[in-house]
Amino acid sequence: MDRMAWQGQGMTRQADGPPEWRGAARGALGAGGGAAGGADAAGDAPAADAAAGLAGGAAGHGEARPHGAAQVLLDLQHISLSFGGVKALTDISFDVREHEIRAIIGPNGAGKSSMLNVINGVYHPQQGRIVFRGEERRRMHPTAAARQGIARTFQNIALFKGMTVLDNIMTGRNTRVRSGLLANALWWGPARREEMEHRRKVEEVIDFLEIQAIRKTPVGRLPYGLQKRVELARALAAEPSLLLLDEPMAGMNVEEKQDMCRFILDVNRQFGTTIVLIEHDMGVVMDISDRVVVLDYGKKIGDGTPGEVKSSPEVIRAYLGAAH
Ligand SMILES: Nc1ncnc2c1ncn2[C@@H]1O[C@H](COP(=O)(O)OP(=O)(O)OP(=O)(O)O)[C@@H](O)[C@H]1O
Ligand SMILES: [Mg+2]
Repeated sequence: MDRMAWQGQGMTRQADGPPEWRGAARGALGAGGGAAGGADAAGDAPAADAAAGLAGGAAGHGEARPHGAAQVLLDLQHISLSFGGVKALTDISFDVREHEIRAIIGPNGAGKSSMLNVINGVYHPQQGRIVFRGEERRRMHPTAAARQGIARTFQNIALFKGMTVLDNIMTGRNTRVRSGLLANALWWGPARREEMEHRRKVEEVIDFLEIQAIRKTPVGRLPYGLQKRVELARALAAEPSLLLLDEPMAGMNVEEKQDMCRFILDVNRQFGTTIVLIEHDMGVVMDISDRVVVLDYGKKIGDGTPGEVKSSPEVIRAYLGAAH
């Protein structure tokens, strides 16, 4: 488990003081603004600082919004999940409120991806309850979760590399196909209207994520950062109410990260989409999330606003553990 590597990505330790969490200045990520704002705000800052945003700006995306009053969309209660002898998650409880950006953070192997896989039905926990939209969810297949409005992106990009951007994004509409096989095969009446509706929606997403220029390019030929954006596009094409993002900015350069942050915030603001975000870059997490849950060795060790979490002694200890 490489804890120190994780720290290097956003949390630095001052010589004789507590760790400093470098939050991205809200303006730098275009709080409702555009890419130009982001580029300008980053200015001539050294790349490392720009990646984490501008030091000292960790206002926290959510602190300006009254999420306390929002309804609970997803409630996870006492979730435990093991793989043979490996306890990936132990008695984890937290909720996700409507329209918030909820971050899950933690060192490598903490159980973050496993948690997303529980939420969208890939893994079935041995213990615990999952309540979605007020109803307890029984054992559920990922396609059923998708039909309920849960979409996701993956830690390792999962796209059809030989297919074009447009066709990949179209696969995001699969769970919304209504007309039958025969009607589709005959390209008849309702099927035709439906196909046009799918295409219209996909074009909307393409415009929204500013990827018009690559719509006919095979995904495998795109640089990594753009592939990540296409994966987000595919998830958005499903018009999800709950969007699960597993390290959407991993491996990106500074500019790509800023773009991705802006898109995530825009999706949240413009469509009201609730977002659960796993991210290692603490500057990003502190800046764009409303609330943060912290996992360590499969256990929850922190839960609260970015401000609360970053000053929690237990969280600080977990991240500095390897140094002591
Ligand atoms: N399918 C699986 N089979 C066996 N063990 C698994 C499986 N998936 C996850 N694990 C184990 O569960 C634990 C949590 O893994 P998980 O991938 O959820 O961590 P993570 O927090 O996402 O880590 P990272 O930051 O490296 O992505 C690890 O010990 C991992 O090896
Ligand atoms: Mg993971």
